[in-house]
Amino acid sequence: MIPEIPTLITYPNVVSKLFTDKELFDRELRVYHLVPPHVPDLLSAGETEIMGQKLYYISAKRIKGQAYLDQPNFSAQELGGALAAFHAFTFKAGKCLCHIDNQPQNILLAGSKYYFIDFSDSRYDFPEVDITHLLLFWVEEYPFVDFISHAGSLLNRYQEDITLNRDRWSISLKQSITRFDERRAKYNKAFKRAEDSSRNRDWLSAVI
Ligand SMILES: Nc1ncnc2c1ncn2[C@@H]1O[C@H](COP(=O)(O)OP(=O)(O)O)[C@@H](O)[C@H]1O
Ligand SMILES: [Mg+2]
Repeated sequence: MIPEIPTLITYPNVVSKLFTDKELFDRELRVYHLVPPHVPDLLSAGETEIMGQKLYYISAKRIKGQAYLDQPNFSAQELGGALAAFHAFTFKAGKCLCHIDNQPQNILLAGSKYYFIDFSDSRYDFPEVDITHLLLFWVEEYPFVDFISHAGSLLNRYQEDITLNRDRWSISLKQSITRFDERRAKYNKAFKRAEDSSRNRDWLSAVI
């Protein structure tokens, strides 16, 4: 029997992530090598062998925080600023490095600082792809009034730095909804849509 190898080893100040898939490792490491804002410091990365199995590892500074959405008084405006800074860092001809897998557990809030982690799905794409997907988590989280207040704050702050495009927004939102719903169906079969989900989605489709 092959012993189970954890994919994450947490130390007091360091988190080491182990990969068996070199493609995922390369994609994640590429982001750390760019050194964008709001990403933990890379400490070391490479190849190793554990119990006869070849593995790749990335060790980054451990962020002493939690998923932002678990901290009810997080600032949508500041998260909008963090995401704009992350996108602006690589922005060129309408595209930028997008996180893609921007579920709440992959955005940590420590004090008042936001950090993006887990880049194995990242790719260059339109920023609208990232933002629509991030906001779909809020669609399911908030009643309508809170949703428009939070989403509006994020979008206003984001657009101080990067202007979103209406056509790309519509296309990206449709794609993000498909991706979001497929993921929920796959990982969370008991998932029940929030009461204001449709209303929130309608607002999102018309806002840009
Ligand atoms: N640098 C870090 N600092 C603090 N916590 C981290 C860090 N990296 C990962 N984690 C924690 O470990 C979890 C899983 O790591 P992640 O890189 O998202 O891997 P996975 O691909 O398994 O989702 C994260 O949701 C977060 O709670
Ligand atoms: Mg993750």
